[in-house]
Amino acid sequence: MPSLQQIRTALEGSGQAHVLRFWPELGSEQQEVFLRELAQLDLPRLEEHCRAAAQAAAAAQAACAPDRDLEPNLEPVPPESMGSVRRSDPDCLSGWEREGFLQISRSRVAVLLLAGGQGTRLGVSYPKGMFDVGLPSGKTLYQIQAERILKIQELAERRLGSKCTVPWYIMTSEFTLEPTKTFFQDNAHFGLQPSNILMFEQRMIPAVTFDGKVILEGKGKVAMAPDGNGGLYQALEDNGVLEDMERRGVEFVHVYCVDNILVKMADPLFVGFCVANQPHRRLCGWSPRHPNLGDCGAKVVAKAHPAEPVGVVCRVGGVPQVVEYSEIRPETARLRGSDGELVYSAGNICNHFFTRSFLQDVVETFKDQLKPHVALKKVPFVDSCGNQVKPTEPNGIKMEKFVFDVFPFSRNFVVLEVQREDEFSPLKNADGAPADTPTTARNALLAQHCRWAAAAGAALLDEQGIGTPMPPSSSPENRPALKCEISPLVSYFGEGLELLKGKTIRTPFILDGAAAAELQA
Ligand code: UD1
Repeated sequence: MPSLQQIRTALEGSGQAHVLRFWPELGSEQQEVFLRELAQLDLPRLEEHCRAAAQAAAAAQAACAPDRDLEPNLEPVPPESMGSVRRSDPDCLSGWEREGFLQISRSRVAVLLLAGGQGTRLGVSYPKGMFDVGLPSGKTLYQIQAERILKIQELAERRLGSKCTVPWYIMTSEFTLEPTKTFFQDNAHFGLQPSNILMFEQRMIPAVTFDGKVILEGKGKVAMAPDGNGGLYQALEDNGVLEDMERRGVEFVHVYCVDNILVKMADPLFVGFCVANQPHRRLCGWSPRHPNLGDCGAKVVAKAHPAEPVGVVCRVGGVPQVVEYSEIRPETARLRGSDGELVYSAGNICNHFFTRSFLQDVVETFKDQLKPHVALKKVPFVDSCGNQVKPTEPNGIKMEKFVFDVFPFSRNFVVLEVQREDEFSPLKNADGAPADTPTTARNALLAQHCRWAAAAGAALLDEQGIGTPMPPSSSPENRPALKCEISPLVSYFGEGLELLKGKTIRTPFILDGAAAAELQA
């Protein structure tokens, strides 16, 4: 560990001497903690980081929001790189699914959760995965995800007769690692083998003022933030994650974000689609072992409306990319094709597929080419007199890399459009916000489970014992759903519910293992 003097010299050399301004006021224990924290900063690159942050923020503030240079080079994903659950015939879908199950059954598929975010919009002080959205079962997002892994392993084993493992890699940050670890331990890892859950930490970087100074959050604390979900690639290297995958024989990785309550972990259809990657030839000569495998893929949903705040998967200058909604002019976002659908409708749901070898290439060759994005934030700080200040306006710059910024390096990028009501309902905001809240997430899951139960032949009654058909509504997530919840341990995507056929069920109802046994008795 560098000495105080070495750190002081490095800070002075990079114009950041103020970081040690309050050093003499700190007790010896605080000094020890602070010194350890400072030793972890990338001191040789600190000056460059601060300068780049200030420049990028100035450029972002000067630019008018949509990027005019972008527009002439923008085009939708070409149809030959695109598959669609809505438009594909059932044979093709089951072909992809078969391929996915085959890969899962051979333990070649892992899931990787991006869980290093701070969840500021939701306003909780603990990791988002620990959030309970108010389901009848009280399950948290982490528990739902763990149970989906257990189920998909079981389904693959049953279909192909070989025991398999879907390892769960979880990227955390300084904010989320300890509470996530403890939560998993306290819950006996939700029935998963602890050795198949691998948590690792992404890097943190200092927040910087508009004039390029590291922000002090306390007298002995630098304001640090995770380096964005694109910090994944550095974290893979720092923690030897790809080596671990290689040892386990993992070839394909499904990367997803923590907040989507409907996420289909290791989705066999998506995995099979990317592995087979013959969407344009899907009806004739579909061959799962084609050498032209998709090395990088994204799941998308059709945007709900032109202004929906999701990134759009498209091409810029011929290479695949995600363009954030703020970067596209409203007129462009509103463009419709001859079929009446939005031209730029491929909404990014942060569900990505990568081959391990592509990730290896990124780590070895491309990760340093990822350009950080600038976020202007309100960062609490101590002023020069030592007073704690909570700013009401953005005062700090956080630099973040984005997970999808590796798409341009892909040799064969593929996109699968899935149905929003089956696969996407993110938890971003606290209740009271117009969208993406605990209520909308809960209702989306309950509505899906009601559809599964009805499709299996059950009649659902409300709490008064009345059989109410689901009221039509433009936004299924917002309608109050009958409280029918199906445990992922019973059904992953609506399969295996024959036991509900002809049954009349009064809600609230939880179909878990015990209830299933009772129904079958
Ligand atoms: C993300 C996508 C956006 C998409 C939307 C759909 C990115 C950069 N943006 O936006 O295109 O339309 O989801 O819901 O992917 N995270 C980390 N480390 C960090 C920051 C975030 O692991 O340093 C994780 C979060 O814990 C979360 C995921 O990345 O699981 C997404 O992060 P978030 O900041 O919520 O992205 P959005 O702005 O919602």
